[in-house]
Amino acid sequence: MGYVGLPAAIMFGKAGHTVHGVDINTALVNSINKGEIGAEEPGLRDALAEALANDRLSVSETPSAADVFVIAVPTPINDDHSPDLSYVVNACRSITESLAAGNLVVIESTIPPGVTVNTVAPVLEESGLKAGGDFSLAYCPERVLPGNVMAEIVGNDRIIGGIDSESTNRAAELYRSFVTGTLHESDATTAEMVKLAENTYRDVNIALANTIANISESVGVSAWDVVEMANKHPRVDLLKPGPGVGGHCIPVDPWFLVAADETSSGLIQSARSVNDGQPSLIARMALTVADGVASPRIAILGAAYKPGVSDARDSPTAHLVRVLSEADAQVTVHDPQVKSFTPSLTENVVDAVTDADVIVVMVAHPEYDVLDPARLASHMRARSVIDTSNILDRDVWTGAGFDFHRYAEPN
Ligand SMILES: NC(=O)c1ccc[n+]([C@@H]2O[C@H](COP(=O)([O-])OP(=O)(O)OC[C@H]3O[C@@H](n4cnc5c(N)ncnc54)[C@H](O)[C@@H]3O)[C@@H](O)[C@H]2O)c1
Repeated sequence: MGYVGLPAAIMFGKAGHTVHGVDINTALVNSINKGEIGAEEPGLRDALAEALANDRLSVSETPSAADVFVIAVPTPINDDHSPDLSYVVNACRSITESLAAGNLVVIESTIPPGVTVNTVAPVLEESGLKAGGDFSLAYCPERVLPGNVMAEIVGNDRIIGGIDSESTNRAAELYRSFVTGTLHESDATTAEMVKLAENTYRDVNIALANTIANISESVGVSAWDVVEMANKHPRVDLLKPGPGVGGHCIPVDPWFLVAADETSSGLIQSARSVNDGQPSLIARMALTVADGVASPRIAILGAAYKPGVSDARDSPTAHLVRVLSEADAQVTVHDPQVKSFTPSLTENVVDAVTDADVIVVMVAHPEYDVLDPARLASHMRARSVIDTSNILDRDVWTGAGFDFHRYAEPN
């Protein structure tokens, strides 16, 4: 019943199915049953209220008998970057008691290639039933964009890959009940590869943009101009450079391809290393800008993993804070959208920058477009600012007395 599972449960309910949501997190189960979820995802709270009022959704901690089981549990990586499939295995094992002949099981979690056939099917078969023979099994990855989930879960095209053609057909029929995008039918392992190819494409593209940015800096030109003008080519679509890549998808999923074939995945491993290195690069920039001040005070604006979201999981700011703290800098962090973070967030921007030597804007939240540098300057010990995402107006900030630095742009 997380980011992916709850909206899916609601949409299945809206389409006329009776849905029983399951989560091992008791606090989450209780708040969903009371309709008390955060308002961060537009439309989700109202849709939940409607599903509860219409008796289309009930939520508990234990699975029960059903026609269809949909699994959307986390698939993180271990410290050595190998896939952690324990949640998927445990969730599958938890339904073996309830699984019956004629059921359909769908995996929505992002998983390494081959896992539906080689890991999920054998675990479900602990029920005594045969995958393909007694029950159907399909992989159907999710592609929603946080912040636009309720629209994308309906409108996006989806890939449906069964372990046999009957599984594919049954899963396609199920998703056709609420998806208006095209359903592309395939097999389970191809569908797993498609999902990983999508997120790896984005990771490698961002790593290329960051590499172009770092080279542009050495050459003494603005990478922002280079990327913008390169994208005027009809067949070029570079993503934006920036302070790194975070969240629970793009920095994680490429490692599933590395685990599948370490020898062939050199480019993917390089991209991971480039993007993971960006926060350290910004930290070095901040320490250089602080110009030898002992224990410099650095105010970081933005903790989310990307603009416009409240999710700070594995964000570049978390890495930046670690590197700066190791270098004995004193750090404050502000974010207008994130609720909790370590170290704890300073509630307003003025408090965050008070007595600071350097401001580092890490996230292009819309709230940071409208900062008043003159007001902030009067509270600071020294006046330097680093814009990592090309959102601040250089003239306005220098006009307010700031020593202005933009990542990937000559000074
Ligand atoms: N968040 C996204 O935007 C997104 C997009 C596409 C794909 N995915 C993939 O979807 C999957 C789920 O991601 P998420 O962001 O929804 O994660 P999440 O952490 O928000 O939610 C997962 C939920 O599963 C619950 N859970 C764990 N083990 C369980 C079990 N055995 N039984 C029942 N519930 C259990 C957790 O308590 C949690 O509430 C991951 O594989 C992720 O990579 C996520």
